[in-house]
Amino acid sequence: MRNAMLPESDIDLFSDDNLRHPWDHYRALRDQGPAVMLTRQNAVVLPRYHELRAALLDDKLFSSASGVALNDAANQQMRGTVIASDGADHARLRGVLRESLSPRALVQLGDEVQRRADEIVASLPAGQPIEAVEAISRRLPLTIVLDLIGVDDFGRQHTLEWADNSFNLFGPITSPRTVKALESMQEVFVYAFEVTAQAGRLRPGSMGAAIVEAVRDGKIGPQEAPGLLVAYLTGGLDTTIASISHMLHLFAQHPDQWTMLRAKPDLIPAAYQEVLRLRSPAHWFTRFTTQDVDVGGTVLPAGTRTVMLFASANRDERKWDHPDEFDILRDAADQLAFGYGRHACAGQGLARLEVISLMNALTRRFARIEAGGSALAVNNLIHGYARLEVVLA
Ligand code: HEM
Repeated sequence: MRNAMLPESDIDLFSDDNLRHPWDHYRALRDQGPAVMLTRQNAVVLPRYHELRAALLDDKLFSSASGVALNDAANQQMRGTVIASDGADHARLRGVLRESLSPRALVQLGDEVQRRADEIVASLPAGQPIEAVEAISRRLPLTIVLDLIGVDDFGRQHTLEWADNSFNLFGPITSPRTVKALESMQEVFVYAFEVTAQAGRLRPGSMGAAIVEAVRDGKIGPQEAPGLLVAYLTGGLDTTIASISHMLHLFAQHPDQWTMLRAKPDLIPAAYQEVLRLRSPAHWFTRFTTQDVDVGGTVLPAGTRTVMLFASANRDERKWDHPDEFDILRDAADQLAFGYGRHACAGQGLARLEVISLMNALTRRFARIEAGGSALAVNNLIHGYARLEVVLA
């Protein structure tokens, strides 16, 4: 596919270094145009805010049904799942998730999530260095999400490894991380197949059991159940864990804004929008164009694999003033970290509830978050921390 108007870039967005530090490359792509051909991936990237948002809204032209990854094997594997379907199929699958993740279901959960966040924060030592990924970021999502899904001990022990692989799976086939993930993802699907096929393996009343009930009631087919369980198991963990680490790191770097937040806790939900804008945990998913489509004056032919680069759009200087600055007083409500349109994150209410509950608990107890050493994790799609040392005082 060639297009005279389409600028090209040979940047390797999937090298270890560029996955850790992509921001300058994203800016260069935005400056090249609203759509840029990534020659190494044979895919077009949309790095700017306005064009990306419009494309996310048009799910007829930008389809998810042939997968949202950058390689054919993964796209084949995920066909027919909630994230990789369009139209009526997507609405049906999403309906099952909606029952469990609706605002009404979340209101009932709110007190319990806050109680657990308070417990975690109360257990943290003051004035001593702690490794926050383990001590804070992982704890709430791991207990809340796995309890909600209702998985057994085997599922609990393997979920973090599955989650890491499940996001590497989306990458280009040229990345060794993708190849390893393709091999190891068989295990999660075998597990999901088994526990959704056998009555009583998922805790009664849980979100997992609701999937099995949807099969029983004829709302979805039995072959669709494992994919929904995998969407919960993998989608709800590393994303939120990364987001909590980013929140801690940003406030450690900006003590004045932490002080402001403590003085005005009403700002917490808006401050979390700004965390999501500046440090989007899920950097991209892809679409496939069903017809020739005009993106800001550049025509993408039908059949173009298109990378929706949420993390870059959230720093587009055409949309945001001083986009690289952290400012909790900014109105960041339009950020795209949860995607946009029909496929916008089904779990965003739960993710917000978890992170905001932790922010409530942390602002009540600690006046300062001091940063120690840290190491960014390397994953094809999720930007987060492998290690984050902090002192809370
Ligand atoms: C901060 C945390 C999170 C972030 C940044 C995030 C990000 C995203 C993004 C960007 C999408 C859009 C995919 C696309 O456009 O193709 C998405 C979809 C999805 N997310 Fe999340 N997510 C988070 C937490 C969660 C949680 C807690 C759950 C569930 C327990 C979840 C479940 C899902 C599901 C099922 C979809 C597919 C929705 C669909 O295709 O209709 N996510 N997420």
